[in-house]
Amino acid sequence: MKIQAGNAQINVQDKGRGRVLYLIHGFPLNHEMWHPQIEKFSQHNRVIALDLRGHGQTPPTPGPYTMDLLADDCAAVLSALDVKEPVVVCGLSMGGYVSFALYRRYPQLFSALILAATRAGSDTDQGRTNREKAIKDTQQHGSAPVLDNMLKVLLAPETYHSNPELVNYLAGILSQTSVEGIIAAQEGMKSRPDSTSTLGEIQVPTLILHGELDQIISLDESKYLAAGIQDSKLEIIPDAGHMVNLEQPGLFNDAAAKFLSSL
Ligand code: MLT
Repeated sequence: MKIQAGNAQINVQDKGRGRVLYLIHGFPLNHEMWHPQIEKFSQHNRVIALDLRGHGQTPPTPGPYTMDLLADDCAAVLSALDVKEPVVVCGLSMGGYVSFALYRRYPQLFSALILAATRAGSDTDQGRTNREKAIKDTQQHGSAPVLDNMLKVLLAPETYHSNPELVNYLAGILSQTSVEGIIAAQEGMKSRPDSTSTLGEIQVPTLILHGELDQIISLDESKYLAAGIQDSKLEIIPDAGHMVNLEQPGLFNDAAAKFLSSL
């Protein structure tokens, strides 16, 4: 279904009944990255998964997509769906950056938080330089250079050999991200604030999931989240990279299910 949020027509999947699990995808992905979680958790929960602006089936709007703008979209979707109870927010990578902005702006929406493959810090100087190059490459050559580069680092090195179907599936998801979406999301992430001070404000139970072979987020960054968030637990998922929920769906789902049943 499509939901109007500001000037964006947000594509949303809403499946199942019960406690709401709200899935926020990473860059340059869309809600299809959550397929194993949507299938499992919609059996006993209401799973809501959106495509952020310029990603998947949500058309682009002019950028930049600041984390605050994307958080406002996430809040508008819950409001349009008439969700009245606080929800369990689950954000992966950029979805984690958006979750921090959502918590700063709408803490009342949260009953719990799952942070996967994400970090609190803003970009380093090198990170900003990389994003500027990615923006320039995309302006000059379209989406292929950035999507090709991302595809090489989203999975654990072994996964490229051991699971070619997953590599293809992921490539199909990436290919849906628009040129405008890539540029606007990079601009937004480049200017995102440091969320370290938000960590101490998070008052809800939080599960942090880290793929031990993540090529983008270091274990230290996940430990930093765990040290900063009072009621948090860090789980390291073996044989998984950045797309920890897709590379080890069983372990990811088991950890999330145990967390949900502890709430
Ligand atoms: C993501 O997976 O969302 C991105 O790698 C995040 C980033 O570029 O910082």
